[in-house]
Amino acid sequence: MDRKELGAGTRVVRAARSLPPGQGEPVVPPLVQSVAFDYGSAAEQDAVFGGERPGYVYGRYGTPTAAALERALAELDGVEAVTCFVTGMAAIAAAVDACAISRGGRVVAQEDCYGQTRALFERWVRERSADIVFVDTTDRGAVEAALRTKPTALLYAEAIANPLLRVNDVAGLARLARENGASLAVDATFATPVLFRPAGLGATMVIHSLTKYINGHGDVMGGSVGGSAELARAMRDRTILDGGYLPPHEAWLAIRGMRTLALRVWRQCESALVVARHLAKHPKVARVHYPGLPDHPQHEVAKRQFGGLYGAVVSLALRDDTKPAAFRFLDALELAVSATTVGDLFTEVLSPPISSHRRLPAEERKRLGITDGFLRISVGIEDPDDIIADLDRALDRV
Ligand SMILES: Cc1ncc(COP(=O)(O)O)c(C=O)c1O
Repeated sequence: MDRKELGAGTRVVRAARSLPPGQGEPVVPPLVQSVAFDYGSAAEQDAVFGGERPGYVYGRYGTPTAAALERALAELDGVEAVTCFVTGMAAIAAAVDACAISRGGRVVAQEDCYGQTRALFERWVRERSADIVFVDTTDRGAVEAALRTKPTALLYAEAIANPLLRVNDVAGLARLARENGASLAVDATFATPVLFRPAGLGATMVIHSLTKYINGHGDVMGGSVGGSAELARAMRDRTILDGGYLPPHEAWLAIRGMRTLALRVWRQCESALVVARHLAKHPKVARVHYPGLPDHPQHEVAKRQFGGLYGAVVSLALRDDTKPAAFRFLDALELAVSATTVGDLFTEVLSPPISSHRRLPAEERKRLGITDGFLRISVGIEDPDDIIADLDRALDRV
């Protein structure tokens, strides 16, 4: 360059591109918000782009902060590799599409999975003629029959299903999938890696909505798909071409939230059991769904699979099984928030028929038991006595 000194306009643009050198490792991972990454030479950049050398090139291809989260999640779930997405739905869409739908593969899916997951599968049936059948995945005979009808690429189930809280026997499903040449994808959002590791029981793919327990603070959306290194390569291709990679700031917050995952989940599970036992005796409650109660149809499976924890979501059906009764209950809550999510620090209550399962046809909702007076409670870390007092107050208004 001819000029001896750079002009102010150039200097401000070039300034503070990296941190000044200094001793000491940061005790939390740095937030690397950079979209692009510079290399000493074009040859070096070429090698990184070509995958011959590890490195980062562009935010959609991978970033150091999201990679730190991915590595931590892989360790937590005991899988080779994890890829993070902007939401749980983006993770589910990428994984199921790549492993089955886009190849014309058949899917056998849990009938009572999260409402939007089911809506996505049904849209694929309508728009892409996908072959997807819905079954009660807690019924071994039904799963076996569905898998045997035709060659199936993927069996899809939730560890603890939203919102009926049916518990799937993952080792049993993995065996059935394997015997029939299918992969098994498990959405472990409600169970979290604190309750169990589905990959250790034979699941080929482990999915989480990071939005829920893993972040746990109600301020981040994200999703993850974990499994083999080969699956991770397919997922990376999805983030590069379809977009949907988790941005660095979200990844950084999710790491921060994840640090207290075990503490939160232990406390929440303990409180949920207390809440479930209390609600089971309440005269205004017709039925409580909670895997920790002995009358839950998969109580024994849950006990064996989760080692004494049963999750922190409790669902109930009001005796007055109507929408006005459910609304009176929601409007009377003072401590719990009436919100469309689960897994946060604070107690959250939801009416699935008006929200998460709204798109399901009313008759199908009714058949599954998601009736107008059905409510889902995500138990928070508050004092359990205060949670119960709030729920009792709201039940008085029903
Ligand atoms: C079990 C389950 N899986 C996936 C999702 C989707 O996650 P997200 O809202 O992060 O897209 C949800 C959302 O409620 C869920 O409950």
